[in-house]
Amino acid sequence: MTPKIPLSAASARTEPPVISEFMQTALANPGLVSLAAGFVDQQSLPVEATARVAAEILGDPVEGRKALQYGTTIGDIGLRRQIVALLERGDRVSSGTFEGLEPRVVVTTGSAQLLYLVAEALLDPGDIVLVEAPTYFVFLGVLETRGARAIGIEIDEGGMKLDALEATLAGLEARGELDRVKLIYTVSEHSNPSGISLAEDRRGPLVELARRWSKRHRIYVLEDAAYRGLNYEGDEPTSVWRHDPEGETVILARTFSKTYSPGMKLGFGVLPAELVQPVVSLKGNHDFGTTNLTQQVMARVLADGSYDRHVLDLRAMYRGKRAAMLGALQEHFAPLDGSVSWTRPKGGMFVWLSVPEGVDLGTKGAVLARCLEQGVLYIPGSFAFPGEPGPVPTNFARICFGVPSETDLIEGVRRLAAALAECMDPVA
Ligand SMILES: Cc1ncc(COP(=O)(O)O)c(C=O)c1O
Repeated sequence: MTPKIPLSAASARTEPPVISEFMQTALANPGLVSLAAGFVDQQSLPVEATARVAAEILGDPVEGRKALQYGTTIGDIGLRRQIVALLERGDRVSSGTFEGLEPRVVVTTGSAQLLYLVAEALLDPGDIVLVEAPTYFVFLGVLETRGARAIGIEIDEGGMKLDALEATLAGLEARGELDRVKLIYTVSEHSNPSGISLAEDRRGPLVELARRWSKRHRIYVLEDAAYRGLNYEGDEPTSVWRHDPEGETVILARTFSKTYSPGMKLGFGVLPAELVQPVVSLKGNHDFGTTNLTQQVMARVLADGSYDRHVLDLRAMYRGKRAAMLGALQEHFAPLDGSVSWTRPKGGMFVWLSVPEGVDLGTKGAVLARCLEQGVLYIPGSFAFPGEPGPVPTNFARICFGVPSETDLIEGVRRLAAALAECMDPVA
């Protein structure tokens, strides 16, 4: 008899990543325009700056050996100093404003690891995390693995609705479940998947609300600002974590994947002081520390100005792609008489599409099948909603302008509109 595979409960409840099936479909159909992948533009990846600083490091035997050795678990101090300077530039405050922040900065293997570590440090099975509905679906997977409950909070054009958040907290308190609430998770900038940012005038009140509801224990705000820096219209509002000057309530998660290179897989967190040691201890179990060589490379591109120059180039490039996608949406969806609407993101790479209730954009629906025949792919929005409070809507889709060229984006939207028009008009 073949012995049973004794998977842990955490492993058994972890589904394969939803996105991988979609990536396979895209790879297997070379003519397909994928508006599904949330990857960055391939041509823009910063080969030259990275090659130059890698050669500088490895061309110097002392620096080279240092970079090829293990580093520290919390992350390279040179990089963490550069991160503090980057945060100052990003929030348009003078150099030295965040002096002394370095001990609260933890470098991680992408922000994905930081999100995982925070979940591991705070959540037991049955604990509750309040998330935007829709939210970053990969984080829903992390919560599933931890056995935590994700409860969705309605959003509008200003992001998470604070009155809805407050009503959910009040409902949980009335049912005796407030003690299970550990985190409020917001993708604060140009969200994946909605493209919406948390409104400036909700940022301070969100932190205040989390403080007020921290009755028996602290409820943290986890600010995932993965797309901060990729703004195409004016300045971004001050980060949520700046509304927590005591540094007790907000956990900031950031990454260099979108603004520099996902292949470097470097992210970081700014943590409340009391969470640093728990997170670093868990990180020690994961990997001892993030790849030292990539940290040294990143520290140098931040220090010599290549990073900031690269971000400026990216903004110009994605601004063009955004215009191509929004223009094509206007052209091809306008004839559908307002039944289809979409967000107009000020940054990032995602647009959120809404069709009338009853039109099923899910994996089993007619629209996705018709889109595949037409040669275009999107991500069904249903993946981005937690099961609670339910039911999960099926009339949304995420489309991304990160990867395809402007020409392909326009063609992709044309195909999407053609497929939708057929499915929404029964006589077609
Ligand atoms: C909202 C959000 N958070 C976090 C991440 C994780 O990125 P990484 O682990 O590459 O830093 C992503 C990547 O797509 C994202 O969209």
